[in-house]
Amino acid sequence: MTESTEVTGPVAEVTTPIAVEGEVSTPVARHYTRNALLSTLLDALVAAGKTVSPIDSDDLASIDELHAGGRTATVRLADLLAPSAGDRVLDLGCGVGGASRYLARYFGAQVTGVDQSRDFVDVAQELSARAGLGELTRFERASVTSLPFEKESFDSAVMLHVGMNVEDKAALCAEVSRVLRPGGRFALYDVMRLSVEDELTYPVPWASNSGMSFLEQPAEYHRVLTGAGFDVEHEADLRELALEQAARLHELAADELPALGPHLVIGDRFRVKAENLAKAIGAGLVSPVQLLAVRS
Ligand SMILES: C[S@@+](CC[C@H](N)C(=O)[O-])C[C@H]1O[C@@H](n2cnc3c(N)ncnc32)[C@H](O)[C@@H]1O
Repeated sequence: MTESTEVTGPVAEVTTPIAVEGEVSTPVARHYTRNALLSTLLDALVAAGKTVSPIDSDDLASIDELHAGGRTATVRLADLLAPSAGDRVLDLGCGVGGASRYLARYFGAQVTGVDQSRDFVDVAQELSARAGLGELTRFERASVTSLPFEKESFDSAVMLHVGMNVEDKAALCAEVSRVLRPGGRFALYDVMRLSVEDELTYPVPWASNSGMSFLEQPAEYHRVLTGAGFDVEHEADLRELALEQAARLHELAADELPALGPHLVIGDRFRVKAENLAKAIGAGLVSPVQLLAVRS
């Protein structure tokens, strides 16, 4: 990724402190670490003619939705979850907070986002503050397999493209079950394995190599969710949406990327990562799948 130059004037004014030191300790953390991420995003918004103080959160939609199908996939998952205004929603592995802000802005939910990346959490907080969503969203650094919340703290939960980095999905689902109230809904969206044998070509958007990629088949998600006390009520395959998005990227020249896009967060190998994923989806090895599960 091209690093940002020094930012001056209103762009540089931040309302929450941004961690200078990355808390890099695991391969997954290193995979997602980006230097100067906030200024990179703000510079790009300004260059694209957008305001950054305040930010219209819809102007972030092409940047802060780090999953196949982008905002469209977020809208579908949010519609599945359908939280009521004031509902306490947990966004597991929130990244820079795109889904959290969408749920806050369009559903009036009170969203708590957690992510293992200190930098992402700080950027998420700052973007929300600039978008006028600071009251409805808060972000904390935490692991999705060890959540710092009391039992039954949330009415519902979302998780978008995080399970692929989590080896112990039983622990993940047990934690989500613990922090949800009975009847609470868990809407998740992961890239899932369709074939047991075939190996992916790396890097892909969530992993630089196979050591940090833990894909499972939809049936295994059903099994661990059921084991954690959930009833799975809905499953949708978003393969076509992901392939349409990949085709649009493929039409661009080799050295061309949109001014605003997920590459600003994913980094300079975004294109090869996205194309490796598209090939795996096209070959029927993996697919992006949404599930809705309800805690009994
Ligand atoms: C592909 S990104 C998706 C981000 C966000 N959910 C979205 O869709 O825009 C995966 C995110 O999961 C986070 N993550 C991976 N493993 C995690 C873990 N064990 N605990 C918390 N966050 C994790 C990463 O830091 C990264 O922000």
